[in-house]
Formats: sequence, structure tokens, C-alpha cells
Amino acid sequence: MQSSTYYRTHHCGELRMSDIGKTVSLTGWVNKNRDQGGMIFIDLRDRYGITQLVFNMDTNAPLCEEARKLGREYVILATGTVAERSNKNQNIPTGEIEIIVTNLSVLNAAELPPFTMDDETDGGEELRMKYRYLDLRRPQMQKRLMLRAQMLKAVRTYLDAEGFVEIETPNLIKSTPEGARDFLVPSRLQPGLFYALPQSPQILKQLLMVSGMDRYYQIAKCFRDEDLRGDRQPEFTQIDCEMSFVRQEDVWNMFEGMTKYVFKQTKNIDLPDFLRLPYKEAIQYYGSDKPDLRFDCKIIDLNDVVGGTEFSVFNNIITSNGLIAGINAKGCSEYSRKQIDELTEFVKAPHRGVGGLIYIKFNQDGTIKSSVDKFYSVEQLTAIGNKLNAQKGDLILIIADKVNKTRKVLGELRLEMAKRENWIDKNAWSVFWVVDMPLFEPDENTGEPIFAHHPFCSPHPDDFQYMDTEPLRVRAQSYDLVMNGNEILSGSIRVHDKTLQEKIFTILGFSEAEKEKRFGFMVNAFKYGAPPHGGCAFGFDRWVMLMAGGDTIRDVIPFPKNNNGRDMMMDAPGDVDNEQLKIVGVKLL
Ligand code: AMO
Repeated sequence: MQSSTYYRTHHCGELRMSDIGKTVSLTGWVNKNRDQGGMIFIDLRDRYGITQLVFNMDTNAPLCEEARKLGREYVILATGTVAERSNKNQNIPTGEIEIIVTNLSVLNAAELPPFTMDDETDGGEELRMKYRYLDLRRPQMQKRLMLRAQMLKAVRTYLDAEGFVEIETPNLIKSTPEGARDFLVPSRLQPGLFYALPQSPQILKQLLMVSGMDRYYQIAKCFRDEDLRGDRQPEFTQIDCEMSFVRQEDVWNMFEGMTKYVFKQTKNIDLPDFLRLPYKEAIQYYGSDKPDLRFDCKIIDLNDVVGGTEFSVFNNIITSNGLIAGINAKGCSEYSRKQIDELTEFVKAPHRGVGGLIYIKFNQDGTIKSSVDKFYSVEQLTAIGNKLNAQKGDLILIIADKVNKTRKVLGELRLEMAKRENWIDKNAWSVFWVVDMPLFEPDENTGEPIFAHHPFCSPHPDDFQYMDTEPLRVRAQSYDLVMNGNEILSGSIRVHDKTLQEKIFTILGFSEAEKEKRFGFMVNAFKYGAPPHGGCAFGFDRWVMLMAGGDTIRDVIPFPKNNNGRDMMMDAPGDVDNEQLKIVGVKLL
């Protein structure tokens, strides 16, 4: 039985020199128990910090014996006096004091945990996922969850001040097209029919604009059945927003403002104004729609300076309308044969699949050495080097292939070089808009236009003229926000005209029946006065990961799934008994 009303008077991160002499009670977990014979020292841990407890054999031997028995992760209540420490620990805020314990209660014993609760834990990720509740005891994980909450608070404060209304939308809905597979939920009341979990609240937030809500946001759970990797979970969180009577500029300014506000509130960082980089330039110079601009190293086209020799590889690429382009790996002219071979293997890896890598070394002694010396004079190599602004000490790396492949692989090589050469300042932030994305992209297999984002993005007014003749040329009024090489937001101005929306569905190849079945309710709503509107959604987990310095979004999601979509702790998904299946009208194959 607990005698007092309260367990603790202070938490474990609170006491300082100014508290010396006070009688206090602390609760928490035994982080470490150091038995030094005459004295026992216990590090008591809670969410707020660590405080040292001291037990002295000379003054209270029975209590000391009790303390000696406390294992790691025991939950205890200790009462005692705050005293100055003789051996101060400057690394923790409570490091100048300790508690001379006079009373001790064990609130709960603990089995020996499978790994240590330290930031530098000895537990591998699989094990930590299985015992996630213990993993979340580690200070680093607790800090991440607290940062996540702080960011959400800042988001809400900002949006509230801007007149946004937080509105919840349902999770049992009809399919929303975001390009992934749906998770399906069978209906018991209507056997044989299924709900889909929302891939995003896209359609519903647009309907809220039709309702006249003007400015909406939601911290929304989204569900996508797609292949998983470090920045993708089957269930993730968006900060989903929509505004009426806006143009792109309005949306950009609003959410640039919000991003800056969150940085200021949670990290005290003042971000500079965001660059607006056209998609075409992102691809041309960096080979990616989400380039990392914490370092430069642009991709430079070289078709105009490499032709006219006997080198058939380049000549063939030029005649087949391919692309020869290169990057300047600054300061890497001394790369060894082995290092160049490694880079060659990198670009030739089956999933990249280019034929090879050509190099030109601009040596410190002024000489030039290249893998195509045989075909190119020093003057010609110098001309190539000039295009890439090569100086003594630089290494030029060149790829020749189909246009898209050359750019994509050089974009990846650019990142690989940055990793090898530590070009990225870990404290730097690169946050900018990528704008003027394409409305459609060609299907990989058929070449037919498929939507690049989702089918509600409005075409760029300057490109309407190509809608019927060259749809692949049409830019959308859509945009992404890129942070340190990650896409953390996507959005667009939407189509609000029923006729245009139907036309886009037609270009995308939906039949009348499909249109009606999938989007009938939406097209119908647009008959009743839909305002011009637009918005965006932040991938919140990715944003938190970057702010918290995690490696994957699993690091900032309290209970994530592994790369096979399994919840290792709950052991889900799991089988269900036949009776349950029968009730929802489902038969397993
Ligand atoms: P989009 O599909 O681009 O746009 O998603 C918006 C942002 O959500 C994040 N994201 C993910 N994060 C974790 N795991 C996933 N599986 C995952 N998929 C996407 C990304 C992405 O930028 N309805 C539109 C938004 C709009 O147009 O308003 C949408 O969902 O950071």
C-alpha cells in the first residue's frame, strides 16, 4: 500500500545545486547499479533524465543490502536528501548532485532485458523491434518522439493562426488513386463488398473545399500496400492541407512559412528563402527530382564537345539521340585504378545498367590522363574539362547512354561521390521547391500517358494547348518540397472544372463506366460550385526523421513495421479463424 498521495516530488532530470538539503522522492527505472562495497550507486532513469542515488553501508547497512539486489530496469521509489556530489559529472544536467537515500520501495521487479537501454545499445534492430516498448525507453528514442510531438504542436499553432480548420476524414472509404495498392477491409454488413483504407485523404479534402471550409488540415494516417524501404511504411502520417481560392504562389508561401516556423520553434534554425527549381532543371543538372543540394557537382551535357573522333561508343550515342554527360569530382584526380574500378562497377550494377564509365584525370602536375587517351587529343580533353570547369586535381567522370539513363545514373554517381568524399556538411540544410512537374509520364511498358502524381492536378495554363496532341509535354501545376535529398511534400493546384476533370480521366484511359464507378461522386460534387483550390501533404515521418537525425522513418515511428510489413512486436499480420472469415464473407484460396 502506498502511504502518501503522490509517488514522486521531482523527476529524474530536475534537481540541481539549488535543491541541496531538500528531502525528495524520485521514481524511475534502474539504469545502472554500481556496487563499490561500502557504497552502492544507482543511476535512476525516467523520461526526463538520470539522477544518481547513493546508499552507504556505514550509515544504513540494511537499506544498502536492499539496494544491492536491485536489477537493471527495476521500477523503484527512492526518498532521500539532495547532496552535492564530490565527483561531479558535467555531462548530465543533474551531474552536480546526488540523493542520499533513506527509504526505498520496489514498485516492480524486472526480468533482465534483452538489450541495454542506452543510446549505444547492444540490441540489433530486429530484437529492438520485437521489444519496441523497451527500445522506446532509450533516451534517443524518447527524444525523437518528443521532437515529433513538438513539431506537431508547432504545425498546429501555425496553421491555427492562419485560419486552417483541423477536420478528420474517415478511414473506411473507397479507393483513392495515389499510385499504390489499396489495403482492403471486408464488410460484414454487406458481404462480398470491401472498403479501402485511404492512400491519402485527397478526394475528401477536395470535397471539403466544395463544402466551403476554405482552409483545412489534418494529421492523417495514410495506408499504402507497396514495397517498403527506409523511407516508406505501409502506414504513415501526412500533414494534409488544402486551401480554396489560391494559386501556386499562395500555397508555396504558406507552407514555406510553416516549414520555417517549425525549424525555428524546434531547432532555432532560420532557414533562408526556398529556391524554386523547375523539375526539368532538377533532372538536367542532378538526374533526380529530389536532388541533394547540400553540395554542387552538376551534371553537364557533353554531346557538343565529344563528337568527331574515332571513338565509336560516343559516336553511336550521338547518332541515336542519346546523351553523353559528366560530373566533376573535385579533388579526386589521384583516384587509383581500384577506386575507378569500384565506380565503374557502381554504374554497371544490374539495376543501373550502363555500359561503362569514362574518366579524365586533370593531374596536379598539369598532365591529363584519360581512359579515352587513344581517341582524344590533349586539346579535346581540355575542351571537355573546360565545360566542367575542371582544374588541376579534378577527376571528370562521363557516362554515355539513353538520355534518361545517363542522367539518372550520373545523379546516383554524384551522391555516391559525395558519400565517399564527405562532401555533405551534416549540419547543413537544403530545403527547396521543385516546381513545374509533368502532368503525365509514359507508362514504362506501353508508353501510354499515366498520371505522374494523381489525376486531380491541374495542367499548367500555358500548356493546355498540348493536352490533346502531346499530353506528355504538359506541365502540371504541381510541386514537391525537397529536404536534404528527400521528398517531404507533394501537392498541386487541383482541377475544379468538371469538364476538364473528365477530359483528364479520358486521356488516362478510364472508360465512362470506370469513371462513374471510381469518381462519379466527385465529378457529381463538382457540378455544384467547386471553388478553385489547391494544397499539399507533408510526409511527416520523413520530415521528423531528417530533423531527428534518424536513418530510416522507422526511427521516428513509435510502433513501425519491418521491411516485410510485419509488426514484429504484435506479430501482425496474423491468421484469423474460419468463423471470423465466414462472418465477413471471405474464403481463402
Ligand atoms: P504523395 O503521394 O506524394 O501525395 O504523398 C505526400 C508525401 O507523403 C510521403 N509519403 C510516404 N511516407 C512514408 N511512407 C510512404 N509509403 C509514403 N508515401 C508517401 C512523401 C510524400 O511527399 N494526396 C497527395 C498530396 C496532395 O496532392 O495534396 C499525396 O498523398 O513524403
